[in-house]
Amino acid sequence: MSSTSRSIGACAVFLLLGAGCQSPTDVIAIPPNEGAFDAPVAPDLDPAPDVVEVVLEARLASVEIAPGRSIEMWTYEGGVPGPTIEARAGDLVRVRFTNSLPEATTIHWHGLRIPAAMDGVPIAQAPIPPGETFTYEFVVPDAGTFWYHPHVRSDEQVERGLYGAFVVRGAGEPEVTSERIVVLDDLLVDEQTFDLAPFDEDQAMPGRQGNLLLVNGRAHPIAGVRAGGLHRFRFVNAANARYFRLSAPGHRLIQIGTDGGLLEAPLEHDDLLLVPGERADVLVVAGEPSSSIAWQTLAYDRGHGTGQFGAATLFTMRTSSEDAVAPPAVPGSFAVIEALPPSTITRELRLQEMEGAHAAHGGAPVMFAINDRVYPDVESIVARLGDVEVWSIVNTTEMDHPFHLHGFRFQIVDTDGAPATERAWRDTINIAAGQTVRFAVSLDANPGTWMFHCHILEHAERGMMGELSVEP
Ligand code: C2O
Ligand code: CU
Ligand code: CU
Repeated sequence: MSSTSRSIGACAVFLLLGAGCQSPTDVIAIPPNEGAFDAPVAPDLDPAPDVVEVVLEARLASVEIAPGRSIEMWTYEGGVPGPTIEARAGDLVRVRFTNSLPEATTIHWHGLRIPAAMDGVPIAQAPIPPGETFTYEFVVPDAGTFWYHPHVRSDEQVERGLYGAFVVRGAGEPEVTSERIVVLDDLLVDEQTFDLAPFDEDQAMPGRQGNLLLVNGRAHPIAGVRAGGLHRFRFVNAANARYFRLSAPGHRLIQIGTDGGLLEAPLEHDDLLLVPGERADVLVVAGEPSSSIAWQTLAYDRGHGTGQFGAATLFTMRTSSEDAVAPPAVPGSFAVIEALPPSTITRELRLQEMEGAHAAHGGAPVMFAINDRVYPDVESIVARLGDVEVWSIVNTTEMDHPFHLHGFRFQIVDTDGAPATERAWRDTINIAAGQTVRFAVSLDANPGTWMFHCHILEHAERGMMGELSVEP
C-alpha cells in the first residue's frame, strides 16, 4: 500500500470517530511581481564592534504580500519576516523586546546554543504579557543561519507572521557574487479576500498547510542577480507544517551549509528537502543575462493527502542585462567537523499520534505524544552535563515529523540503520513515516531544561513535545 492510500485510510477512520480531518488544498498561483526581495536588517544600536543591540516590537500591522494585496498580520517591527538580526560568531547580542500584541508571547532563538534562561520558552521565563518588555542577552557561539519565533501558542502566533532570520557569520565564509536570506512560509487564506482562514482543530492532524506561498513575506517576488555569478541563498523554513522541496530547474543546487553552519565539503543536489524549522545554505550559478528561472517547491508526500499536488513556484530569479561575470570558484572544502565520540548512553523517543476525543485534554480530537506522554504531562529526561548521548527517534506514525532539539546541535548516526553519508551539524531533522533516525549529541555546555518537539507547530502544541534536563 502506498503511503498516500495509507493516509487516506487513516483519515477515513478518523472521520468515523467523529473528528474532522481537513486535507491540505492546492496553492494560489500569483504572477511574479516587482518590489523589495529582502527583509530589512535590524539596525545595530550599540557602537561596540562585538556587541549587537537591536529593538524588536511585536505588533499588529497590515503587510503587503503582493501589489495591492495586504493582510492583517502579527509582526516584529511591522514586517513579515521581522528584521534579520546579523552578528558575528562570538558577539554579544542584546534584544530589547516589547510585546504590543493582544496576548502574551516569548521569543525563542531557534538553533542558537545560548544559556537556557534566554531560550524564550515558557519553562525558562513567564510569557511576556501585552504591554510589557523583556531584554534577551546572550553570546552567539556559532556561525550559521538561525531564526527566531514565539514559543507560546506557536501554531497560531507563527502562522500570523511572527518570525525572522538570525544570521551569524564567521571565519571562512565563501566568496560569492551575492548573498540573500530567503525565509519560506505559507499562509492558509480565504481565496477571495486573502484574509487568514480561521484556526480550526480540523487542521491539527496534517498541520496547518497553507495555500499562499510567501518568500520573505511576499507572494512570488523577484530576486535580481548578476548573470553568471555565484549566488548564496540561506533558506529558512518558517512554515507551520509545509515541507519545501526546493528546485531551480536547470540548475544544480550546491549545498554548503545546514542548520549548524558550513558542511565539510559542498554537496550537489537536483532538489533539496527543507522541513519546518530547518535551514539550508545553497549556492547556484546564475545563467545568461536577461534570463529568468522560477524556483519551485516540488511535490512531497509527508502523509495525510499532502502528496497530491504538483510543483509550485516560490520566486523568480532574474538576471540583469549586464554582461555575465565569471563566478568565483566553489571552495572544495570548509572546516573539519569532528565526529562525536561513540557513547553507550542511549535513549529512545517514540513519536506517536492518537485520534478520537481525549477526555483528559478537554475533548481534543487529535493528540500527539512522545513515549506515551502528552506534553505538558511529561517527566524530564535527566542527563549529565558533558556527556555524549545517542538518541533514537522512532516515528511510529503514518506521517513524517520534523524533530527539533533546543540548545544543542547533533550529528546523524544512521537512518533505518544506514550510516550517514556526510558529517553535518543539525538541530532539526525529518523523521519520515515509520522511520528511525539515530543522532549523537554532546551535552557539552549550557545546563538547564531544554525542549524538544515536532516542528509541525500544531503537533508540538498538541503534545508532541518533551523536556531534557541537563544537570551539572
Ligand atoms: Cu523553532 Cu521549539 O522551536
Ligand atoms: Cu528551537
Ligand atoms: Cu509532527
